[in-house]
Amino acid sequence: MKIAVVGSGYVGLVAAACFAEIGHEVICVDNDDEKLAALDRGETPIHEQYLPELLARHRGKRLEFSCSLPDAVRASSAVYIAVGTPPLASGDADLSYVETVAREIAHSLNGYKVVVEKSTVPVYTSQWVRRVMQLAGASSSDFDVVSNPEFLREGTAVSDFLFPDRIVIGADSERASEIVQKIYAPLALGTYYRQSASIPQPAKAEVPPRVLVTSAKSAELIKHASNAFLALKISFINAVANICEAVDADIEQVALGMGTDSRIGKRFLRAGIGYGGSCFPKDVAAFRSVARECGYEFPMLDEIVSVNEEQRRRFLKKVRTALWTLRGKRLAVLGLSYKGGTDDVRESPAIEIIRSLLREQCSIVAYDPAAVDRARQELAGDVTYAEDPYQAAVGADALLILTDWEEFGTLDLLRLKSLLRYPIIVDGRNLYSREVMHKHGFLYLSVGRATTELAPGAASALKLNRKSDS
Ligand code: UGA
Repeated sequence: MKIAVVGSGYVGLVAAACFAEIGHEVICVDNDDEKLAALDRGETPIHEQYLPELLARHRGKRLEFSCSLPDAVRASSAVYIAVGTPPLASGDADLSYVETVAREIAHSLNGYKVVVEKSTVPVYTSQWVRRVMQLAGASSSDFDVVSNPEFLREGTAVSDFLFPDRIVIGADSERASEIVQKIYAPLALGTYYRQSASIPQPAKAEVPPRVLVTSAKSAELIKHASNAFLALKISFINAVANICEAVDADIEQVALGMGTDSRIGKRFLRAGIGYGGSCFPKDVAAFRSVARECGYEFPMLDEIVSVNEEQRRRFLKKVRTALWTLRGKRLAVLGLSYKGGTDDVRESPAIEIIRSLLREQCSIVAYDPAAVDRARQELAGDVTYAEDPYQAAVGADALLILTDWEEFGTLDLLRLKSLLRYPIIVDGRNLYSREVMHKHGFLYLSVGRATTELAPGAASALKLNRKSDS
């Protein structure tokens, strides 16, 4: 099938590449000429596993890039809207880009098209898109609007697209629903998975995925409610971690005990410094606004946000507990992106914590495998960037782990200890066991677990504030 994808951001570009991968002819449209030129040159603008391979495989064959929305619409049977919906100061999603694109699509129709919302949008957006298109002169028999939310995580977006838990198609017309089901048929029927060149199946993926056909409004709500629920799981486990700290229990044991109940599930129960990124913070706020507009206060959503914010303050308190005073301290920071596997620093807890430490006049030496260029644009002040974790550690008063990059969990601890000024690690992602840290002689503070103290004797070398430790 011929598909136009409007928007070449994370969602648009991944969707376009994956639609090409499952056999469709795709035109990906953007109004950013520089970005298009870079894509045409063979560059991959985002750090995303398997995306470079898919772009190389399909670019110039089944995947084209274009700045002409009308041409792309005319050449296609389905038009995906995957433009940004950034948050407004009120918490509402800014839908002005969606509106502009809907109007342009209306002006370009040359026969029946399915217009599919892929951007994360509040309930009722499909109705608005329909109305905007009608007001722009489109005949209602020439198009249908479908909501087909994405559940892609940054870093694993390609695998998530091709091996999804479910495919949600929110369509109020049979004709449109059939067209979108046809688009996903290579996944739903499993033919894609039988190809020799398909990308590797992730361990937990079940194929073929289930297709859920719902109303457009239900599909819109599924997306917001799913993200809010995942954020709730994270804030819940973080709140439990805080109780663990108070009673000397271990959050890793508690999370395992809870997660092995199949009704609860293990995933998204990792305690830490809270969630970040371009999705959860924005979507929880947008869902809150949607609820309020519908006349329902949803205070639970406010609580999710406040636990999340508190988690960063608690981490800073731990750094103070480890170091007593902060002014003039040199801190090695591992991780800048909002989670491992991505170069994205939007709403990154790591960036927020570094800003607070800079305000307290610490000097920061940071390392991240992918996010340094983006972080440079966000951080001003006494921050230098290291080439690897060990270079960051040289002469530092403590090492802070702020992002769960896999490589940060397998560091050479003896080497690290020999480079640090003091053997102190404050781990905001619980990447190490307390026993391992104890064995290596670190003062180790983590989330929801008791502090691993230094061996007797070593403590006298450090300015520990035992009082604030309690
Ligand atoms: C999230 C959802 O997981 C996707 O399903 C959704 O499609 C996407 O938002 C979106 O709306 O576009 P993403 O933001 O890429 O994906 O990242 P996640 O892997 O969900 O992580 C979000 C944040 O939660 C990160 O800061 C991560 O470190 C944190 N997290 C995650 C925890 O603190 N604990 C956990 O157990 C899991």
